[in-house]
Amino acid sequence: MINSRKIEYSEVQKHNTKNDCWVIINDQIYDLTNQKKFHPVGESYINIFAGKDATWFFNLNPIHYKSEIRDILRGLKVGNLIRKEGQKIPDNKITIIPLLILIFIVLSYYFLFI
Ligand code: HEM
Repeated sequence: MINSRKIEYSEVQKHNTKNDCWVIINDQIYDLTNQKKFHPVGESYINIFAGKDATWFFNLNPIHYKSEIRDILRGLKVGNLIRKEGQKIPDNKITIIPLLILIFIVLSYYFLFI
């Protein structure tokens, strides 16, 4: 199968910049370096997960389950994550708390004043 290369977490972690941005989603690894520029709500959401696991945050938003998005992701896949026994791969739930607060503030502003 194309792009089913097995990749270790340590390799994903090296691609952790804006210009070299790999992200783990559901144990698959994607190169979002170019695609993130077209992200409708901005690339910063994706940049914070460069070289990391974004599964939890990505799956929070049902819009991401659309077939168009799955098709785009299929073309950007670099490989499958190998989980070594006992290895801990952070799920980054804490990383997104400031973002959730920001979204909450923006939504509150919207409902209160607009
Ligand atoms: C690390 C990966 C990603 C993260 C963390 C992320 C995060 C987000 C967030 C926070 C939103 C806004 C949610 C809201 O307003 O309720 C969003 C919306 C969206 N994202 Fe992503 N995203 C990721 C990857 C992608 C990719 C790869 C695509 C497409 C190929 C995509 C397409 C969209 C679309 C179409 C929307 C809806 C925008 C709208 O409401 O009009 N996202 N994403």
